[in-house]
Order: sequence, then C-alpha cells, then structure tokens
Amino acid sequence: MIQIIRGFKDILPGETELWQHIEICARSLFENFGFKEIRIPILEKTELFARSIGEDTDIVEKEMYTFEDRKGEKITLRPEATASIVRSLIQHGLYTKNPVQKLYTIGPMFRRERPQKGRYRQFYQINAEIFGVGSALADAELIFILMTLFSRLSVKNTEAHINSLGCRECRPIYKEALNTHLDDFSSMLCPDCVRRKSRNPLRVLDCKVPSCRLAMENAPAMVDFLCDDCNAHFEETKQALEMLKIPFILDRNLVRGLDYYTRTTFEIQTSVLGAQNAVAGGGRYDGLVQALGGPQISATGFAIGFDRLIEVSDLDRDSFVKSPHLFIAALGEKSRMKAFEWSCRLGEKGIRTEMELGKKGLKSQMKQADRLNAGFVIIMGEDELSSGSVVLKDMKTSIQEQIPITDVVDAVMRRCI
Ligand code: HAM
Repeated sequence: MIQIIRGFKDILPGETELWQHIEICARSLFENFGFKEIRIPILEKTELFARSIGEDTDIVEKEMYTFEDRKGEKITLRPEATASIVRSLIQHGLYTKNPVQKLYTIGPMFRRERPQKGRYRQFYQINAEIFGVGSALADAELIFILMTLFSRLSVKNTEAHINSLGCRECRPIYKEALNTHLDDFSSMLCPDCVRRKSRNPLRVLDCKVPSCRLAMENAPAMVDFLCDDCNAHFEETKQALEMLKIPFILDRNLVRGLDYYTRTTFEIQTSVLGAQNAVAGGGRYDGLVQALGGPQISATGFAIGFDRLIEVSDLDRDSFVKSPHLFIAALGEKSRMKAFEWSCRLGEKGIRTEMELGKKGLKSQMKQADRLNAGFVIIMGEDELSSGSVVLKDMKTSIQEQIPITDVVDAVMRRCI
C-alpha cells in the first residue's frame, strides 16, 4: 500500500469541521478590520524566497522543496506566503489603486524540517499583511487581531512576545557589537554559525545548537542599540498594547527565522506545544517591497500556524460535526423513489437529508440513521404510500407525528429551520 509522504498529513472528516470553523472566524475578523483576501500560487521562482527570506536562513539553506521544471527553471514550493504576497503587490501595482493594502490569505506551506509534534513538512498558515502604514499602531492592531482570534477560539496559555530589530541605520551598529561578542566565543559556534557570523550574525541568535545558545547567553541585544526613531516606534507599539490591555513580554532575544524583518517583531507562544511553542509569528518588514523591485512601502504582518492553532484550541471539535436533520428509511421500489424525490427537494432547500440509495432492509437503514445521528426519521413503506401519510419521528424526544405525504417537504422544513 502506498503511504503518505513523511511529514505530510491528511485532515479527515471529523477534523475538517474545526478547520472550517476557524477559517470562518478568521475571515470574519479580518473583514471587520478591512482586510481583503488574496490568493497566490503554491509554486514560485526559487529566487523570490532566496532574496526575501534570506540566503543564510535555515529555511532557504536547508528546508525548501526546490526542483527544476522541465525547462530547467528553478522553482520552489512556497515555505511562507509573505514573499509571494509582496511579489503580487508589486506585479499588479496594487498600491497605485490604494496606497494602504490590507491582505490576508490561508493555505499550505512547505518546509522540509524534521517532523515532530506541531512541526510538519506541509503545514497551513493564516496570513495577514498591512502595506503602506508605517505607524506602530498597525503592528499593535495585528497583535490585537491575533489575541482576539485566539480568545474566540478558546486558545489558552498564550503569551505575546515582542522585540524590535531596528532599521538600516541602527542595525549595522548592533551587528558590529554582536560580532565583537562572538569573537570571544568563536570556538563554541557550530560550523553554520561560524559561516553566518561575518555575513549575518543575527542568525546566530536563532541557532538551536546548545553550544551556540550558550555563546549567546550574555550577547548584546538589539533593543539596547535602537536609534531614536526605532525607539519611539517601539515605545508607541508597547503603549498601544497597554491601552488595549494586551499583556506582552519584551523578549530581547526574539529574532525570528526570516531575514526581512525591521523594527517590531512578535510571536504568540504557548506553553502547551512543547518545543514548537510559536502559534503565530510576524513583524514589520519595511524594506522588503523595495528589495523585491517595488517602491519604498512600509509593511507589517503575521502568520498563524493553523495546524498548531488546531492543536491548542480548546473548542469541542465534535460540536462542529453536522449530523443530518432527517433520515428517510424507504421500503419498496415506489417508496424509494418518493423518498429520493423528498431527499433531493429538502437538500435543495437546506435541510440535511440522508437516505439509503441502494436497496437495503429496514433494520440496516435504521442502523444507518442511528450511526448518522439523524434528528428526525421518516419510515416510508407501501402501507404509508397507500394510506397517504407517514410518521415523522423526533429522535431526541421520541415524539411521533402523522404527516400527509403531500406535505412532507414543508412539514420537515418547518421543524428543522
Ligand atoms: P514563521 O515564524 O516562519 O513566519 O511562521 C509562522 C508560523 O507558522 C509559526 O509561528 C508556526 O506556528 C507556523 N509554522 C512554521 N513552520 C511550521 C511547520 N514546519 N509546521 C507547522 N507549523 C509551522 C512566517 O512564515 C512569516 N511569513 C510570518 C509573517 C507574515 N511575517 C510577516 N508577515
């Protein structure tokens, strides 16, 4: 038997209902805040991710599903959505129609990481991005949306971690200080970090190798090197969060695994997911649109790990599974045809109706009605057909009612809507 690829998973009926519920909640919240949906391709040119996420990141160095298509062009299954959204924004000049663009997208991403709980090779993200707003209030709005969604979805034990990564002006000074610190610990660095140290020392902060972590223990932090503008921006973000009564933790070591960030970055972490503790991550990336060939446009956004969100949501998943309003058990050819007509008419009108389309005995049909947990049952046989009425049984109360055959569709509708 052919098995699914390692790190990939099927989402089965019984689970999909909760996924759908979360999607509906997220879409409606996004719409309240003026976001519009954008749908972007799953495959992009490899260069797009290399240039935006950064050549020295784990994602680009080790985790992308990259291959050549038949014409030898290098293409990649998207490891995240932000780069593609920026590409699309530039390609279609969306900012010329409206300088402020608030966009969201929901879909699968691919990273060839070592699979474990909360970490998959195909996983899903719910993304939201704001373009054209430099104000710190945009960052606060995003964190507010995240926390509101998580509270509506009964996600417990979450903490907002925030940090600032500075800008083109102040970050080089910090990088120098970090490099000086790393000079003293170079023998403790893993081969990847030795290479990263001179090119991109911030990446060392993100390394999970224990000796690198140890080397970084007393490393200088970016927040202590912020220029006046970055400092004022970060202060405003924090002030807005305080006003909105969103508790946050200033996490001086939060660097995120992607290179495009500037100024405020954040993660929503939870204690219930073990090592994979980030349910969502994001931040400002004011330089990316220009770096990818567009004009200078401020940007900020986040992505929620949908799979992780499902794992930490306390909602009762069974409550989203919809059972049929009605099951019609039919005996005999004429009854079966009549039942079929009713079930189509009722389905068309929004009443979830099930019947056995093949030919089975009453006992097996009643078993099926039970299995499906139908709200009402009608038994329709030759006797009912000749008497002109059927019995409609409410399966919860066991109350039975006689209904004229000519009125079945309307009678069921009156009881179910
Ligand atoms: P990211 O931190 O790489 O950021 O991913 C965001 C979230 O996706 C993570 O916090 C996590 O919940 C989930 N995630 C990441 N990798 C996996 C995996 N292998 N399995 C399951 N879940 C995973 C980004 O992707 C940025 N594009 C976020 C962003 C949007 N920044 C600005 N705008």
